[in-house]
Amino acid sequence: KSTIRIAVLPGDGIGPEVMAEAEKILSKIMDDDGKTYELIHGDVGGIAIDNHGSALPGSTLDICRNSQAILFGSVGGPKWEGLPPEQQPERAALLPLRKTFGLYANLRPAVIFPQLQDASPLKNEVIGTNFDLLVVRELTGGIYFGEPKGRENDRAFDTLVYTKDEIRRIARVGFETAMKRNRKLCSIDKANVLTSMVMWREVVNEMAGDYPDVSVSHMYVDNAAMQLVKNPGQFDVILCGNMFGDIISDEASMITGSLGMLPSASLADGSFGLYEPSGGSAPDIAGQGIANPIAQILSMGMMLKYSFGMNEAYSRIFAAISKVLDQGFRTGDIMSKGCTRIGTAEMGDKILAAL
Ligand code: NAD
Ligand code: IPM
Ligand code: MN
Repeated sequence: KSTIRIAVLPGDGIGPEVMAEAEKILSKIMDDDGKTYELIHGDVGGIAIDNHGSALPGSTLDICRNSQAILFGSVGGPKWEGLPPEQQPERAALLPLRKTFGLYANLRPAVIFPQLQDASPLKNEVIGTNFDLLVVRELTGGIYFGEPKGRENDRAFDTLVYTKDEIRRIARVGFETAMKRNRKLCSIDKANVLTSMVMWREVVNEMAGDYPDVSVSHMYVDNAAMQLVKNPGQFDVILCGNMFGDIISDEASMITGSLGMLPSASLADGSFGLYEPSGGSAPDIAGQGIANPIAQILSMGMMLKYSFGMNEAYSRIFAAISKVLDQGFRTGDIMSKGCTRIGTAEMGDKILAAL
């Protein structure tokens, strides 16, 4: 029987706190399913700078190379913000990991648990009863990676560049996932201003011919940001480039109650993936044991599904979370009247017990 090897990189801030809860649940599921598995821990981000002098040490990269998936916490924080930008955790660890492993397809499912309707800042009638949106975000191109980028005296610049191939492969993911859902794809761009986005729209339209069953629409990103809070239920799959997807997904998370609810999967072709909450290290609440571990736990669930084909395990996790919400337990970020406020570890324990 072959051993499943998973790189576990908790990172900074709330990363280690929420990762501990995801690991509890991961171990239980693997044991119940009779899997042989190995979790190999590594330092990444600020803690790796402190311990090894680099945000992505070779030893950590080796752990990732020898694994079938990466379970990632989050990186960055005030302690490292004084470093030169290229050495900071986000740019020196997370972006290179995405690039090195070709993780171009970032899936961010924003699904509301009905129990959390009141935790969302949107009115119930605006959210509707079954808000379920998938953001498909391009993750290894666009303005994050385009060259040149740099500074010259009082000028600083980044480059927004996409090739047709890069657009095609992420659009393919958008169309394919739309086919498995409600067959509605909204591509978000800024084709009224940006040349790269004119081509983005053309390529999406060309590919629409291969997917006659998918209804395709296009929306400018500013309008999309507005439409998402006006009528979120109009969307099924949203397809966007790197930076727009970053912004739109944080916005989408809030419809479900909290950024602490939004998981993500960053996928390459094949089964390798990196799984991380969409939110960050949350320095404002780190170290207090109050962060919501659900995004990390769901990200782990996505890993079981996408990298290891354990679809039932994902459903089982989802159901356990739902049960704990039914019981009225909430972390501070999703707290509402009449519920019982609990901390990170208690939330992990409740979910474990509900499995
Ligand atoms: P953030 O996502 O860390 O926090 C934004 C807000 O959401 C904060 O109020 C935070 O408390 C809240 N929040 C986030 N996750 C939560 C959770 N699980 N439970 C409860 N509340 C939660 O964004 P930021 O403050 O802009 O960034 C902080 C640091 O994190 C920065 O260094 C940033 O670069 C980094 N960051 C890292 C990642 C990553 O590693 N993937 C993602 C985003 C931001
Ligand atoms: C995210 C984060 C990262 C991004 C940062 C930390 C590099 O905000 O995963 O959404 O912008 O992609
Ligand atoms: Mn982000």
